[in-house]
Amino acid sequence: MTMQEKAAGRVASVMQEDRVFPPPAEFSSRARIGSMAAYQKLYDEAKNDLEGFWHARAQTLPWSTPYAKVLDWNPPHAKWFVGGRINASAACLDHQIATGKGGKTALVWVGEPTGERREFTFEQLHAEVCRVAAGLQKLGIQPGQVVSIYMPMTPELVIAMLACARIGAVHSVIFGGFSSEAIADRNQDAKAVAVITADGGWRRGAQLPLKKNVDDALKSAAHEPTSVKNVIVLKRTGQAVDMVAGRDVWWHDLVAGQPADTPPVAMDSEAPLFILYTSGSTGKPKGIKHTTGGYILWAKTTAEWVFDLRDDDLFWCTADCGWITGHSYVTYGPLAAGASILIYEGAPNAPHEGRFWEIIEQEKPTIFYTAPTAIRSFMKWGMQHIEGHDLSSLRLLGTVGEGINPEAWIWYHEVIGGKRCPIVDTWWQTETGGIMMSPLPGCTPTKPGSCTLPLPGVCPEIVDAAGHPVEKGEGGWLVMTKPWPGMLRGIWGDDARFVETYWSRVPGKYLAGDNARQDKDGYYWIMGRIDDVLNVAGHRLSTIEIESALVSHPSVAEAAAVGRPHDVKGEAVAVFVTLRDGEPTDALKDVLRKHVRHQIGALAAPDDIHFTASLPKTRSGKIMRRLLRDIAAGKETVGDTTTLEDYSVLAKLRGDQE
Ligand code: WTA
Repeated sequence: MTMQEKAAGRVASVMQEDRVFPPPAEFSSRARIGSMAAYQKLYDEAKNDLEGFWHARAQTLPWSTPYAKVLDWNPPHAKWFVGGRINASAACLDHQIATGKGGKTALVWVGEPTGERREFTFEQLHAEVCRVAAGLQKLGIQPGQVVSIYMPMTPELVIAMLACARIGAVHSVIFGGFSSEAIADRNQDAKAVAVITADGGWRRGAQLPLKKNVDDALKSAAHEPTSVKNVIVLKRTGQAVDMVAGRDVWWHDLVAGQPADTPPVAMDSEAPLFILYTSGSTGKPKGIKHTTGGYILWAKTTAEWVFDLRDDDLFWCTADCGWITGHSYVTYGPLAAGASILIYEGAPNAPHEGRFWEIIEQEKPTIFYTAPTAIRSFMKWGMQHIEGHDLSSLRLLGTVGEGINPEAWIWYHEVIGGKRCPIVDTWWQTETGGIMMSPLPGCTPTKPGSCTLPLPGVCPEIVDAAGHPVEKGEGGWLVMTKPWPGMLRGIWGDDARFVETYWSRVPGKYLAGDNARQDKDGYYWIMGRIDDVLNVAGHRLSTIEIESALVSHPSVAEAAAVGRPHDVKGEAVAVFVTLRDGEPTDALKDVLRKHVRHQIGALAAPDDIHFTASLPKTRSGKIMRRLLRDIAAGKETVGDTTTLEDYSVLAKLRGDQE
């Protein structure tokens, strides 16, 4: 038995395509979309009249100026709700207050040191956001300017995002696990004028040096001169930090005496709301640009459909706001839908492996949305951490970030969901702004491992390399044939790369970068990336980025990074390195791991380092990644190697493995 099966105490080995879980009747009777017929009707409505469909839904948003046109589609450039003006923070806060939800809980926060807890009503959250917004305006931050946010998962992170949105500044959230070099890259690319950070953050009882990382980023010689004029620092851990006079200001000083009713700036529907950097197959991370009106409508509508939000729900999405999931389903989606959110600062295994279940027992969330890699960890840690905790508040479970293996799905369904909670396996991307394919909990029968069907307004197709649709059952590239309100509007500062990456290989269609297959029932099964992007514990990493980080070390001549299967993380990072000088020792492996941490962040540190005399390449000089992947996975080398430039390279590599 595998580790997961042992943890689950059962063997799940059925043909998953034929294993179907119907939606529970209790759900269907109350759901917004409560039958497949209702889903099909909505789907067809959107397909036949895309603009009319979104026009009807956009009426639920608080526009300060109505739009003149729903969609201006000039492929690949889309403008949604042309001419309309709206503020995303007002859609999340002021609108809820205006519709009688001011006293409702908006946000519950649980801190890492046990016992810390804070709660905000929509009115209280609004007041905090207004104070920070006024403080940022006082610093001179203008609409359209970029503000980086590098913070621990505290209420202030959500508040900072909404405060930027309120004044029309474009936020660029940088995950707290990224290094100073990664911060410097992002600040430079976005020309950020300010950084909002904290002295530190808690992680498994240790203090992260967040302010120090920002200081180092602003001193980075490779990124001079910096565009950053101000650093705002939240006091979180109380650790000692250097404050630079004239540049740095404490959060509590910034907000002191500021009004609790700063008016929202009415932004053009197509004004950028945020940038979020993500890894692609080439070069540095790209700043994915999302705009205001279409994004907020997409985040809100998809949250309502997929999580079937009800007024008394408490929604716990475990993602950090450093990722798109934290943007769309911690902050914007649920709050714009008027739902209450739960956020937690720490790791699931600190101070013990039952922390999440303890939180569920105490806070009683009704919806729990997490990543398959986390589920596989829970399975590994064992039942003893779960048994005895009351999880009966849960009514719906979700997953995101990577495909979920059927064993983990069934474990999640039985152990966490008590067999009563439907599971929504949601497929989407940083670029799509929100969920694209997912079961709807009141209607779609689910199959473990499939994200099932597209949401209304989403038009996927699976095509071959020539761009022709493939037959059902055959694999191919996943593309989208029509625009949707939450789609990315570009790559920050690089329109040519936007056109090339997403719209050129299959002209006129959005190339998602994933392989997929449709089964006989039309259900979609995602089969992994078509490019050199790795998915390590649900995080997107570029092989090229890791290779560049390695090559920037003086001892390294050449490097190739590939993924290999990993029980918990899904994929692990394996690298093959040829040395310029130095000995291929374990000590050097440690040095290289640290170097990658410094260049990118801990999440990119290689799991395996193989030293080799040279790398296998094709005659045209391309690294033979497929071969390296097989070697990294410990498989017998397969495939056509006749184009190998130097067979001896392969022999040496194999020797290195043995
Ligand atoms: C993968 C995360 C299978 C996929 C929201 C996609 C998935 C990439 C799923 C985007 C899923 C995400 N099933 N694969 N349910 N969800 N992926 O931008 O390869 O961090 O292209 O967005 O994650 O990752 P990103």
